[in-house]
Amino acid sequence: MEKLSMAATMFCAVVLAALAAAAGGEAAVVEHTFVVHEMNQTHLCNTTKIYVVNGQLPGPTIDITDGDTVVVHVINRLPHGLTIHWHGIRQMRSCWSDGAGFVTECPIPPGGEHVYRFNVTGQVGTLWWHAHVTCLRATVAGAFIIRPKGGRYPFPTPAKDVPIIIGEWWELDLVELDRRMHDGNFDDNPLSATINGKLGDLSNCSGKPEESFVLDVVRGKTYLLRIVNTALFSEYYFKVAGHTFTVVGADGYYLTPYKTDMVTVAPGEAIDVLMAADAPPAHYHMVALANQPPEPDPQIPGFVSRGLVRYAGSSHNNNGLPVPTPLMPSQHNTMPSYYFHSNLTGLAHPDRHRVPMHVDERLFFALGLGSICRGTNKTCERGRSPETIVVATMNNVSFRHPTNASLLERYYDGQTSGLYTEDLPDHPPHPYNYTDRSLIPPGPLEKALEPTFKATKLRRFRYNTSVEIIFQSTALLQSDSNPMHLHGYDFFVLATGLGNYNPKTDPKKFNYHNPQLRNTVQVPRTGWAAVRFVTDNPGMWYLHCHFEFHIIMGMATAFIVENGPTPETSLPPPPPEFKRCGANGLTQP
Ligand SMILES: *[C@@H]1O[C@H](CO)[C@@H](O)[C@H](O)[C@H]1NC(C)=O
Ligand SMILES: *[C@@H]1O[C@H](CO)[C@@H](O)[C@H](O)[C@H]1NC(C)=O
Ligand SMILES: *[C@@H]1O[C@H](CO)[C@@H](O)[C@H](O)[C@H]1NC(C)=O
Ligand SMILES: *[C@@H]1O[C@H](CO)[C@@H](O)[C@H](O)[C@H]1NC(C)=O
Ligand SMILES: *[C@@H]1O[C@H](CO)[C@@H](O)[C@H](O)[C@H]1NC(C)=O
Ligand SMILES: *[C@@H]1O[C@H](CO)[C@@H](O)[C@H](O)[C@H]1NC(C)=O
Ligand SMILES: *[C@@H]1O[C@H](CO)[C@@H](O)[C@H](O)[C@H]1NC(C)=O
Ligand SMILES: *[C@@H]1O[C@H](CO)[C@@H](O)[C@H](O)[C@H]1NC(C)=O
Ligand SMILES: *[C@@H]1O[C@H](CO)[C@@H](O)[C@H](O)[C@H]1NC(C)=O
Ligand SMILES: *[C@@H]1O[C@H](CO)[C@@H](O)[C@H](O)[C@H]1NC(C)=O
Repeated sequence: MEKLSMAATMFCAVVLAALAAAAGGEAAVVEHTFVVHEMNQTHLCNTTKIYVVNGQLPGPTIDITDGDTVVVHVINRLPHGLTIHWHGIRQMRSCWSDGAGFVTECPIPPGGEHVYRFNVTGQVGTLWWHAHVTCLRATVAGAFIIRPKGGRYPFPTPAKDVPIIIGEWWELDLVELDRRMHDGNFDDNPLSATINGKLGDLSNCSGKPEESFVLDVVRGKTYLLRIVNTALFSEYYFKVAGHTFTVVGADGYYLTPYKTDMVTVAPGEAIDVLMAADAPPAHYHMVALANQPPEPDPQIPGFVSRGLVRYAGSSHNNNGLPVPTPLMPSQHNTMPSYYFHSNLTGLAHPDRHRVPMHVDERLFFALGLGSICRGTNKTCERGRSPETIVVATMNNVSFRHPTNASLLERYYDGQTSGLYTEDLPDHPPHPYNYTDRSLIPPGPLEKALEPTFKATKLRRFRYNTSVEIIFQSTALLQSDSNPMHLHGYDFFVLATGLGNYNPKTDPKKFNYHNPQLRNTVQVPRTGWAAVRFVTDNPGMWYLHCHFEFHIIMGMATAFIVENGPTPETSLPPPPPEFKRCGANGLTQP
């Protein structure tokens, strides 16, 4: 293992023409080699097998400048298939490098290699990368930093920037976890939250506290925290005692500076905040706390990780004084998430990123749960009965994820018969009172709405179509929020609201002036979000909730965006180094 990591590190981050790029001139080619392998790690008195890149947890940070080309050689030393997705990268005309397993490529088989090559243009801030097959992304993930050309930020240049990766520690093998969830078993939980891979001192092994993430700061300096939620399960609240934040970016775009003492980050989101080290030099706790809806929703344990902000010059033991800990909201209070997300606005550009004012296609996606009969039974007892498997749906379709072909490849080859259809409904087939809480068991209403089915239903769009989607979170069987992520695109978040979307009155609340541009929208619990985008990037683009259990349960689809009229508006053929499904071997994780 030692040898492997060292070799990998040597290959890592070969930066060609980097000087030219730093001077604000020619773009650079940033090249990495990611060796994905197994590793043992011991936490909470137990040694567990995990999956990592180049021996690192979190994985290596990719650090580039807007305009650069990125080349990543992925070497798969796992006994499982693997893909890596570059979360939030627009992949303009490079859908082949999106890395969504069985959507844009077949997984890299054990022992196989793959090259991802793409340009990054017009995005700046923080994104991330992660495995996009099974649950491996819990540990196969890292930050993706895009710096502005010439180092020009719309705020004073921070002294240092620090990725803050909020994740989870799983004792259960992640491949086994995936297998169990596919069988409809959702009883497994992580043991702890993590900050940059550390469980923190609230967890212990026989009384010995776990290591905490420590951020060393110098009084008077300002730090750019690049906060990413890579967790499979939960949205997190993040605070540092005695400090406030100025939120300046999200998902690779600048925001209007927004002052707050707490950041809310849902799985899939990346939030950039400035933190001034302006407190008396001492030690301060940082806390990441998972939230969840209260009962009657099914409950999971409360996950928390605690880290430390440590000022230079402060004494080793904080002069024997207690270390201040931030006051966190109740884990069952989801309102701070709603306020945080709805209060953010984009930093207005006079001539870029204009909101499409006309709409060609209007979609309304109701996001909920349902159930299918176990085995081959046509009918079965509903209402949390062992005869059913609980699944997740969009407009009453639970996505059947392909397991032996790539949607993009078959679409490109014109051989789609038997693999998918293009008839995902634009609206819920049977409208109901989406946010009625008596739809949550043991409420009386859910049984009639519960039956659903699995199918690979996609939605096709012509090139240059202006699309509006209303995402409606429902209370069908549970009342979770839904962080919806679209590959290959950013959408304007025009508004969010609580309760059922009202098409007569709610459009009056739309922000056309300076909405956030996001690849992931946190659709509030029993609420809605309205987004718009123009289909300017041809290809096959996965759309899914970023809660891992919701993906596996089927809250997903893919958007086909047709080619435009010219080569510049069309998806090129797969690059020469791209391995087709046959060539790559059809691997089932
Ligand atoms: C992890 O530990 C197990 C049990 O001690 C051992 O068999 C295995 O080789 C170790 N794996 C790695 C990658 O070191
Ligand atoms: C990236 O940009 C370069 C220069 O414009 C172009 O030659 C190349 O084809 C682009 N690569 C991809 C993968 O789009
Ligand atoms: C250690 O973790 C394994 C799974 O990796 C689990 O089966 C076992 O029960 C755990 N042991 C203890 C003592 O918690
Ligand atoms: C260690 O953790 C357990 C729960 O896992 C807790 O009951 C106990 O109080 C902790 N002990 C110390 C010394 O922190
Ligand atoms: C912004 O947050 C505050 C609470 O911090 C809340 O009262 C207000 O309603 C929020 N604004 C919007 C537009 O949601
Ligand atoms: C199928 O239905 C029969 C009759 O209702 C029932 O006895 C059996 O348990 C069901 N099978 C499964 C897998 O739920
Ligand atoms: C691929 O999977 C589909 C179901 O997802 C199945 O109908 C088809 O027979 C499979 N094809 C092969 C070649 O295994
Ligand atoms: C929908 O359900 C909510 C919550 O139970 C209730 O307040 C509301 O009146 C219902 N709306 C309609 C149109 O029935
Ligand atoms: C979904 O469709 C099934 C019929 O296929 C129906 O019984 C059920 O009520 C529908 N549920 C919803 C939420 O539309
Ligand atoms: C896209 O459509 C708009 C009108 O909706 C038109 O003004 C624009 O030229 C089109 N762009 C392309 C690249 O076709």
